[in-house]
Amino acid sequence: MNLVFLGYPGSGKGTQAKMLAERKNFAHLSTGDLFREEIAKGTKLGQTVKDIISSGKLVSDNIVLEVIESKIGSLKNDVIFDGFPRTVEQAEGLENLLEKYSRKVDAVLFFEVEEREVVKRLSARRSCSCGRVYNVISNPPKKEGICDSCGAALFTREDDKPEVISKRIDVYKDLTSPLISYYRTQGLFHIINASRPGEEVYGEIEKTLSEEKI
Ligand code: AP5
Ligand code: MG
Repeated sequence: MNLVFLGYPGSGKGTQAKMLAERKNFAHLSTGDLFREEIAKGTKLGQTVKDIISSGKLVSDNIVLEVIESKIGSLKNDVIFDGFPRTVEQAEGLENLLEKYSRKVDAVLFFEVEEREVVKRLSARRSCSCGRVYNVISNPPKKEGICDSCGAALFTREDDKPEVISKRIDVYKDLTSPLISYYRTQGLFHIINASRPGEEVYGEIEKTLSEEKI
């Protein structure tokens, strides 16, 4: 089963993808996480995408599709694509790549949440290099600034600075939101009310997947 998680930056795609991956054994492929790993390792790809990501723009479709192509063959059957595709070109590219392995996109879950809520969430996000993510208002670590899981110092992502948050929102509206009608017309589109607490959002995702027999 191939799921696409679509929605505003900060709508909770990564949080829910991690939960579904842990509880239902999905592979979780987040292009944002992948690029951040490459930046941390200082690879050529990391150096290419670093400034693009810190400025809130999108990495080019060519680079993104090359990265996905290099991963897709080794992925298990159940995959969550988180934050990819982000343009209509990427969606078409994904279809072509999946077709090579006789696979297809089975469902697109759209994380519906208001713009002002995502601005609040992104401003309150603190991340850890171990992958754990906190919201300092609704889900803070036990000790301020320190990860509960690994004890490392938490940091604010470069692209969670206020001016970059608004750029990412503009980019989402211009380039990513056309995917809503793209997938709606294909009958793959499911709306998830992502403005509720995390466990409730997860419950709705589980219900949608089982009701639709996805
Ligand atoms: P990426 O990492 O994908 O960022 P994004 O889409 O902007 O999404 P976020 O990770 O910011 O938000 P999320 O929806 O995962 O929310 P989260 O669960 O963390 O991409 C980063 C950059 O990489 C892009 O800007 C671009 O430059 C590049 N890139 C990546 N993919 C690309 C592609 N395909 N094409 C081109 N470029 C690409 O939650 C956010 C916060 O809210 C957290 O603090 C969390 O704890 C909290 N939270 C989550 N759920 C809830 C809830 N229910 N209630 C309250 N708080 C909640
Ligand atoms: Mg994310």
